[in-house]
Amino acid sequence: MNIVVVGSGVAGLTAALHAAEAGHRTTLVTKDALGGGCTALAQGGVAGVYGRDDSPAVHAADTVTAGAGLSDRRAVDVLVGDGPARIAELIARGVSFDRAADGTLLRGREAAHTHPRIAHAGGDATGAAISLALVSQVHASEIDVVEHALLVDLLVDDGTVCGVRLIDRSGPLEIHADAVILATGGAGRLYAHTTNPVGATGDGIAAAIRAGADVADLEFVQFHPTVLTTGDAFLISEAVRGEGAALIDDDGRRFVFDAHPDGELAPRDVVARAVAARAASQGAPVRLDATMIGAGRLAARFPTIDAITRERGLDWSREPIPVTPAAHYLMGGVSTDLDGRTSLPGLFAAGEVARTGVHGANRLASNSLLEAAVFGARAAAAAGDGPRATHPAAPGRRSPAPAARPDPLVPDDQWRDDLDQVSLPQLMWDRVGLLRTPEGLAEAQAAIARRRAASATPLTRSQQEEANLLVVAEATVAAALARTVSVGAHHISRHPALIGA
Ligand code: SIN
Repeated sequence: MNIVVVGSGVAGLTAALHAAEAGHRTTLVTKDALGGGCTALAQGGVAGVYGRDDSPAVHAADTVTAGAGLSDRRAVDVLVGDGPARIAELIARGVSFDRAADGTLLRGREAAHTHPRIAHAGGDATGAAISLALVSQVHASEIDVVEHALLVDLLVDDGTVCGVRLIDRSGPLEIHADAVILATGGAGRLYAHTTNPVGATGDGIAAAIRAGADVADLEFVQFHPTVLTTGDAFLISEAVRGEGAALIDDDGRRFVFDAHPDGELAPRDVVARAVAARAASQGAPVRLDATMIGAGRLAARFPTIDAITRERGLDWSREPIPVTPAAHYLMGGVSTDLDGRTSLPGLFAAGEVARTGVHGANRLASNSLLEAAVFGARAAAAAGDGPRATHPAAPGRRSPAPAARPDPLVPDDQWRDDLDQVSLPQLMWDRVGLLRTPEGLAEAQAAIARRRAASATPLTRSQQEEANLLVVAEATVAAALARTVSVGAHHISRHPALIGA
């Protein structure tokens, strides 16, 4: 078999290595240099290392609870069942997870986990350690690597995906294949404030939508609660709260307990909304107080965060630091079955681009690298079996098809001038963010439809990325409008004033 994998985060690297090791001719395409993207920035770690009173079943229960009950239980069971083997594989491939003096893996604690079960490396540099190890394995393999090549479209012949159309530095390029595995990550760049790198423009989701694949749960966008307000968006890992750091308001009060009995360790959507609401009501960012952890422990456990905060003139061992939510992760994506098969024969998906159903309405911390490794491996195995399609999206869970033109109920002229002036990420942040209103969503839908109608055929890489973001934005808004009840990360409010940009 001839397999093309698009994307080089942990899902793409894992899928490519598994495909090549199974004897398939494998090409790994990546839009920047190999190992770029979100994986390399991941701080917290990989969930799935169980202590004596912990188990895959408890991890599964925590995943479903954080997901507001909307997780697909079978997918969760696969995640926690395969998880330990994938973590062992990462270790065998050269990832040095942090260990105690007796050699056992250290287990970090993060929000909404009932037990410490997060493996980490380099303290808070887990993604970089994983990326480095897997990239070096790819370099040592027979995998053909195509760097700096942006996915433009899927090639489809008689309903079956048979390759990819790309733009690389020398122009358009086509690669034909028996199977394509999308591992292109999410679309954080849909939002004005995001932890995601510039390349997170939803390329795989947009290409899949254009090819007619089912997508689902795009309304579930996760906003991370603690991103530094000073300088470019920089994540302060949830693991810092797991070590005891507290979120405080201007009166020094731990306000998150007003929203949830677990306070700072409540599910991420709850904490993010509480942070945004308190910042809006006090007219200033809330602060993360990590001073009780102590300078020595902060520097040893979180060396990356320690260095960046100091670079930005903050001493978090002495002073609470200002934080705000930012778009972080997309729970939805291209619908897959338990083996990464999409609704299109020949097309597979794994990692953030995929909607496996694991995350439900809100992802549990540090389940993303695990999901990428687990389903990257499974997608590679299924792709090797040939292009057999499934139709995995459960009835009622599919995102509606993008609207061809604005909904006639939309007040098309109202806000039109304002909305047509702002950038797409600002529009999404303002109207399709942490708190949404039916009116705001309708306005966003109309504004996006106008932009789609006015957009020309993309000719350059950046035009293609903008076109991809518009396609994903349109589908996201349609999905958000279709889900009229608040659940998990999708929160419909009658009080838009609570959220500021
Ligand atoms: C973090 O370190 O807080 C992010 C981990 C994650 O997104 O799972």
